[in-house]
Amino acid sequence: MTTVRIEASRAYDVTIAPGLLGRAGALLRPLTQAKRAALVCGDRVGPLYAGTLQGALEQSGFAVSLKVIPHGEAYKTLETCGEILAFLSRNAFTRGDLVVALGGGVTGDLAGFAAAVYQRGCGLVQVPTTLLAAVDASVGGKTAVDLPEGKNQIGCFCQPLAVLCDTDAFSTLDARELRCGLAECAKIGLLFDRDFFFALPALARERRYEEIVARCVAYKRDLVEKDEFDRGERRLLNLGHSFGHALEQASRWQIPHGEAVAAGMAMIARAAAARGLCADGELDAILALLAALSLPTETDYSADELLAALEKDKKREGDTLTLVVPRAVGRCELLSVPLAEAAGWLRDGGAR
Ligand SMILES: NC(=O)c1ccc[n+]([C@@H]2O[C@H](COP(=O)([O-])OP(=O)(O)OC[C@H]3O[C@@H](n4cnc5c(N)ncnc54)[C@H](O)[C@@H]3O)[C@@H](O)[C@H]2O)c1
Ligand SMILES: [Zn+2]
Repeated sequence: MTTVRIEASRAYDVTIAPGLLGRAGALLRPLTQAKRAALVCGDRVGPLYAGTLQGALEQSGFAVSLKVIPHGEAYKTLETCGEILAFLSRNAFTRGDLVVALGGGVTGDLAGFAAAVYQRGCGLVQVPTTLLAAVDASVGGKTAVDLPEGKNQIGCFCQPLAVLCDTDAFSTLDARELRCGLAECAKIGLLFDRDFFFALPALARERRYEEIVARCVAYKRDLVEKDEFDRGERRLLNLGHSFGHALEQASRWQIPHGEAVAAGMAMIARAAAARGLCADGELDAILALLAALSLPTETDYSADELLAALEKDKKREGDTLTLVVPRAVGRCELLSVPLAEAAGWLRDGGAR
């Protein structure tokens, strides 16, 4: 079992281990006076894992009410959030009770937002079941729902009471979902840790998920502790995301997030190399590593198509984009780029 302590506006532990679902009640009991827990999960994750978690919570004296929501990003909406809030209200949950989000990033973001606003905020526990949610979405306190106009347009910061990551849950993920999680892990390596970056394919092959998650969460902790509200250094975590987000948007969300981020990292690395900001050998290493994880490194979209999507990016400030630029594997920098130069960056990155 590995524990990473996060000292944000609320301090909490991220606990990572196989078999954790069955121990959830015992781990949570000392942290809260709550008598009741609303267990929120998607309709794919529920049949797999809700029973074990519910049993463990009940054993430790929590009365559990189960709320199953439809799975998929298409349901990360105000409407689904409204259903969760109505469920809490109908069942007379109070601010002292807990919302337990069991699932991938969609469930975590949705149930997290509901917990943040229900009666102005009740307790939240994140129980990530995808690699992506474990290394990224469940940690750091961002919650959100989408609007038809764009992803994550509504949300707030709400740090959980605890994050419980049962690495056994990854055994039922399909290969593509695992790869998408590994893209975010590669991002952490490319940002901060050369050894981890190059070790990733072997760690993944050997299913050493506790180590992978712990390493990624520790780096995310450092940024969250320095910049909880994402105004400064935490923005490094957007590596690969400006162009990646544009790819997702241009594909109308047909390209999954992790694959888009991988291609976005490849593009920004290519553009950095073209501008002499990153050595060609480093670029080659980045592309080879992404390929070794079976992640995409190319795009068929044109610079114009991607530019239209970039202009909508909520991370844009006025006419400036803040790009995260690799200087070498393990070392990246924030760089302000005028929007007018974005097309050039996209073309250098490999867009038509
Ligand atoms: N809050 C943050 O800081 C943050 C960070 C990164 C991403 N996100 C958000 O996370 C979401 C993506 O998360 P995701 O990749 O986990 O997607 P997801 O939540 O949609 O899960 C992917 C799919 O896997 C299924 N699933 C989940 N766990 C499973 C398991 N153990 N076994 C079998 N199937 C399982 C789900 O039902 C779903 O169909 C996006 O909405 C994104 O915006 C948030
Ligand atoms: Zn991401």
